[in-house]
Amino acid sequence: MQLSAEQIQSNWKVFLHNIETHISDKKDRKQKLLNFYKRYEERIILMPAAHKKEYHGAFPGGYVAHVNRVVQAAIALHELWTTFGADMTTYTREELIFSAINHDLGKMGDKEHESYIPQTDQWRKDKLGEDYMFNKKLAFCSVPDRGLFLLQQHDISYSFNEMVAIQTHDGLYDTANEKYLKAFMPEQKPRTSLPYILHQADLMCARIEFEEEWLPKLNNQNSVDKPKKQFTLQDNIKSSKAKALKNVSSPGLKNMLDSL
Ligand SMILES: [Fe+2]
Repeated sequence: MQLSAEQIQSNWKVFLHNIETHISDKKDRKQKLLNFYKRYEERIILMPAAHKKEYHGAFPGGYVAHVNRVVQAAIALHELWTTFGADMTTYTREELIFSAINHDLGKMGDKEHESYIPQTDQWRKDKLGEDYMFNKKLAFCSVPDRGLFLLQQHDISYSFNEMVAIQTHDGLYDTANEKYLKAFMPEQKPRTSLPYILHQADLMCARIEFEEEWLPKLNNQNSVDKPKKQFTLQDNIKSSKAKALKNVSSPGLKNMLDSL
């Protein structure tokens, strides 16, 4: 999968628009969030959603594309759950969208180090098609924990509902969430459906992104007529760099694209 420079730019606009539209000014939260994302714009705008090509969104711009889709899905699933009678007084629309926007924030790494950096092993790049590798300079931390840490580190407050939703967005795929999601006693179960809605939105989007990326490749596996396409960072950069350089206003981002 590859996104054009125009798509990457347009996805970033949608990302910021979601914050502008859905996050309130209470405790200056909207501005703090906008400042945070502007500060790390050059890193986040081109970030993949994963470093392994087998995972979803492992291409430049994959992270923002994924988050935007999760926001949209969370809103749609909120409507669906409402239709089926879920108690929607237990969380706010802002909590729903704030959790969706920031659910994977921990993937960006810490202040100094990115999580996913370009693969330096040429063999792995050529033979395995790995465009990225995990940055070993970064101390280990789970994605939800790092995301919540980054928010508090930048003085961006979050509610109890948002904390639990971000923490458990991987559902029971992460056994650490069993304490929240596998409780037997009624008083230990979440008091809101928000964690389930966010998890469902994330699961659905990751599945759809898998289908977009892999089904065409898997279906064409035995075809001798159609040559296999190489999906590499370099291919993507070659085709998108010239256009991107024309469109971006940030000098830092221009340098970043130019150096890849
Ligand atoms: Fe996600």
